[in-house]
Formats: sequence, C-alpha cells, structure tokens
Amino acid sequence: MAEQKKQTDLMEKLVSLAKRRGFIYQGSEIYGGLPGTYDYGHYGVLLKDNIRNAWLKHMVQLRDDVYGLDSAIFMHPQTWVASGHVGSFDDPQIDCRTCKNRMRADHVLESFNVSADKASIEFINTELDKLRSTKKLKCTNCGGVDLTPARRFSLMVKSNLGSPVDTLTEENVVYLRPETCGGIYLEYKNTVDSLHPKLPFGIAQVGKAFRNEIAARQFIFRTREFEQMEMQYFLDPKDMDKSYEMWKEIRFNWYLAHGINKESLRWYKHEKLAHYASQAFDIEYDYKCFGGFKEVEGIHARGNWDLSQHSKFSGADLSYFNEETKERFIPHIMETSAGLGRMLLMFLDHAYTEDELGGEKRVYLKFPKELAPVKVAVFPLLKNKPQLVEKAREIYKNLRNDFSAEFDDNGNIGKRYRRQDEIGTPFCVTVDFDTVEKNAGVTVRDRDSGKQERVKIEELPIYLKNKLQ
Ligand code: GAP
Repeated sequence: MAEQKKQTDLMEKLVSLAKRRGFIYQGSEIYGGLPGTYDYGHYGVLLKDNIRNAWLKHMVQLRDDVYGLDSAIFMHPQTWVASGHVGSFDDPQIDCRTCKNRMRADHVLESFNVSADKASIEFINTELDKLRSTKKLKCTNCGGVDLTPARRFSLMVKSNLGSPVDTLTEENVVYLRPETCGGIYLEYKNTVDSLHPKLPFGIAQVGKAFRNEIAARQFIFRTREFEQMEMQYFLDPKDMDKSYEMWKEIRFNWYLAHGINKESLRWYKHEKLAHYASQAFDIEYDYKCFGGFKEVEGIHARGNWDLSQHSKFSGADLSYFNEETKERFIPHIMETSAGLGRMLLMFLDHAYTEDELGGEKRVYLKFPKELAPVKVAVFPLLKNKPQLVEKAREIYKNLRNDFSAEFDDNGNIGKRYRRQDEIGTPFCVTVDFDTVEKNAGVTVRDRDSGKQERVKIEELPIYLKNKLQ
C-alpha cells in the first residue's frame, strides 16, 4: 500500500513538474482535454529532439549500413490489409455498464496474475467469468460489477483522406499508420534501386503512429498519437540469428551509454508472438512512477512476412538478387522499435531526483548532459544593474551559437537556480560585480553538486565543451 502510494506520488510529481516547467501538457486542455493526446512544450520539444537525434546519430550517422527515411503517414489502404493489421490488430475490450469506463480485458486479467497476452477472446471470457463468479471482477474506475463480456476492438484509426464523400466506407477508408515500419517496407524497393545497398542493410525512420488504444491513461506511456523510432534490417535468412544477437546488444548498450543503470533494465522474452513475428524480446525499464518494469523497445525477428505480403498484394517484385551467390530470395527482417514518448518518460523518471542542498530541499532533473534540453543558463546577479545585465546578455549571445543556452533574470538568483534545476540544466553562469569591475570571470555552478567555480569569460566555451563531452 505504502509502495503504491509512493508510485502515485511520483507520477503526480512528474506530471506536475512536466506541466509547470513547460515540458508536457494534456492535449486540448482548454476544451477539457482529448484523452490519449499530449502536447510537448518548449523544454519537451528540446528534450525530445535530443533523444531523437541521439538515436538517429547512433542508428544512421555512425553506421555505413543503415539509411534514413521519412515516409508518409497515410499509405495505400491495401498496405494494412497486406500486413494483417486490418484483420487482426486489435485488443480485447470490456466496458462498465455503470460508468461507461473502457478497460483492456488482458490488463484486468494480468492484475489477477492471469497471463492473457495475445490470448483468444474465448480464453479471456472464460477467465473473466471465473472472476465474476467469485465477485472479484470490478470496474477499475467506479468499482461496479456490471461489466460487459470482452470483445475485440480494432486499434486502427481511420480517415477519409482524398475521398469525394464524407461518409467512411470500406472503399474510401484510408488508415493512419499504426506503426512507422509500414512505410519502410513500401520504400524497400526504391531504396535498393536508388542506393544499391548490399544485404544486410537497414532503413530507419522516426515518425508519428496512431492507435485507438482502449485505455490510454498512463500519461505519455500509452497514447493514441505517438512517435516511434524504428529500424528494419533486411538480411539473408541464414544471417538472422547473428544479426538478432548483434542488434540486441547494440540496443541494450545504447541505454547504458545514455546513463540508464543496468539494474533498471531487463529483457522480456515474448512466448506468444504477434502475427508477423518469429522471435520477440522487449527491453524493459523499471519505471519508478509505475513501480515496476515496463516495455520501452521491442526487438523483433519478422521473417519474410512483410515483404512477401506486400509483394503478393501489390504485384511488385520485392526479391533481392545476390550477385555473388546468384541466389534470389525475399529478404528477412530484423526490427528494432522504440517509442519516443515512452523513452522520454523513462529519461524523466530516471532523472527525477530530490535532495538537500545548502540545508534546503530541492528537486532536480539529473539528465545525462547530452540529452539535457538546455545546457547552460546565463544570469546577471541583479536584474536592476545595467552593467551586469549587459555583460550577461553579451555572454549569452556568444554561447547560444554553440550551445542550447538561456538568459534568465527573473526573480532572485536562488529562484533561478531552482528553475534551472527543475529543467535539468547542467551549468548556470552568473555575472557578478567581480566579473565587470575586476575582470574576474564568471561563476559556473554545477547542477548535481551545486558547487561553483570561477572561469575566465574567454575560456567559457571550451570549459563548457569539455564538461559537456
Ligand atoms: N513495428 C513494431 C511495433 O510497432 P510495438 O511493440 O507495437 O511494435 C513498438 O511497438 C514500441 O512503440 C513499443 O515498445 C513502445 O515503446 C511504442 N508504443 C507502442 N504503442 C504505443 C502507444 N500507444 N503509446 C506510446 N508508445 C507506444
């Protein structure tokens, strides 16, 4: 019970800090909100960009065998028929007849330690009936016992893009992509024809995906509109095991390289697999705000399902000809798939720290320096002393060419430190009277230790560069 309260408290603190400091807001808040949507404010955008860029650098820029792509969100409707999503991308839903709350039936069963991951609707209803007969099955919102049986609910989001009529029919429906990799399969042929890569090679992209999630109530962990960072590695099937192990290791180490401790990460092996997968492992992070491990990223062996299906439905030849062995075959696919918002929540959760500094309680975000939204904030000691303000502005303008920097003269210096701590800014530079009267340089305060040191103004850029490396 105490443990549960700690998690709820932490989640409330994260949501409140994210809003107070301009990271994340509830979507459409002034209209009462649109469930499952969130807007990213200034610092949220900077943080998200840093995570996305770190991923892209690692997955594309620093590799010779992975290419970039930015494909359209809307694709030919047959794409999702071929992939199997139209037929079977759904979750089991139950409704409360009293308060109209919608619940994921598999999640309800899991809360009673009944594993229902990708289970049949018959199995789910049998297990729900057992709970019903012992009066244990209750609405997670109002506690009512009048719940519907489970039924399949499609996660596909529909639009009438380009349609000459308003009504949605099977003929004019255009889906919003439920995963970004669909666009990668459709551009596999163009990539081969234009860039002539040899197997194995990958195509990576970051972009929005949409799912009609039944219960999207866990802040940005599960939303109806979200961003994915996906890489599809095309290969000869005989190289699958080797590549799979290689990418598992590469992806796990990426988290360690960005400051997540090993104890906060673990592997989860899926026993029941999605329709396209022949092997699936998740990287799970121990979210303090949820009180346990949850999926951040999936590593999936997808066989030749995707290219075979798209070849069959489109009529395009998606085979690969190996010049050396003279073999022709449909490449198999190994994918890494991570949620950007879910990863951002992981970094927020991991960075959130409460401690005492100079006898005062404080909250700060201990982001790894490369991901911190703002790297350096520059202050004049007093805002009503023009010579301090002018010098601080000059230093700030110089630094912002090379660093994500901020000028701040709001409130007293203590308040400014608190604010930058809550944004996670690693360094605060203060211009005081010694700076302008004695040419004594500026003070640089370190976020984590609170310690300050004097640095000459001309040495500031190189000092920061070294510290931020
Ligand atoms: N292409 C494979 C694929 O999409 P997935 O396990 O359904 O696999 C991959 O999703 C990742 O996308 C998850 O590990 C998670 O990080 C993120 N994700 C999936 N659904 C999400 C949602 N509703 N909200 C936020 N992130 C989501």
